[in-house]
Amino acid sequence: MIVRGGKGLVNFGCLTKGSRFPAFAGFQLCINGRELRGGFNLSCTCGHSDESAKQEALLTALDKYKTVKGALIPLLQEAQEIYGYLPKEVMQQISKSLGVPFSKTFGVVTFYAQFHLKPRGRNIIRVCQGTACHVRGASKVFDGVSKKLGVEKNGTTEDLRYTLETVACLGACGLAPVMMVNDDTHGRLTPDKAVSTLEKYE
Ligand code: FES
Repeated sequence: MIVRGGKGLVNFGCLTKGSRFPAFAGFQLCINGRELRGGFNLSCTCGHSDESAKQEALLTALDKYKTVKGALIPLLQEAQEIYGYLPKEVMQQISKSLGVPFSKTFGVVTFYAQFHLKPRGRNIIRVCQGTACHVRGASKVFDGVSKKLGVEKNGTTEDLRYTLETVACLGACGLAPVMMVNDDTHGRLTPDKAVSTLEKYE
């Protein structure tokens, strides 16, 4: 982003949405005739999209692992951190960069549960289905959440707000039935309590 001021021209690089305008002692800047002082919220206008930022991050990761042996899994992990899942085009780029067949990359991605082929929600719900939770009504908790969100197991809501998963045991059997939302553990749930718990997760 370039800001043209009464006394000069300053290139701030890419400012993401909501970036704060930095204060420059003794330097006056104006946009549309309005003087800017430190503390204004500005939006990026350089056209540097979220998608291109991800692509740049991926290229950096590809470069980092280019000559590293056994880099397929760490590179897939890094790519998934960038994109939130592994789009086909990204897997193709990784295969090409490492010189491994796409079928091998795809095989690894589908073998390990940690990798995801579809976009996931901003909030990951894990409803425990272990024995202790099962005998205390975990299925009803799951069904209540599933019905409320309109998604089945491993499904993601259309607005990408939630992904609903199950898990074997969360190690909190004394609180059964239990679910986790992101890193938070919620215990002694009823279906209604589980549903209302989700509301605070945007
Ligand atoms: S069985 Fe659910 S937390 Fe252990």
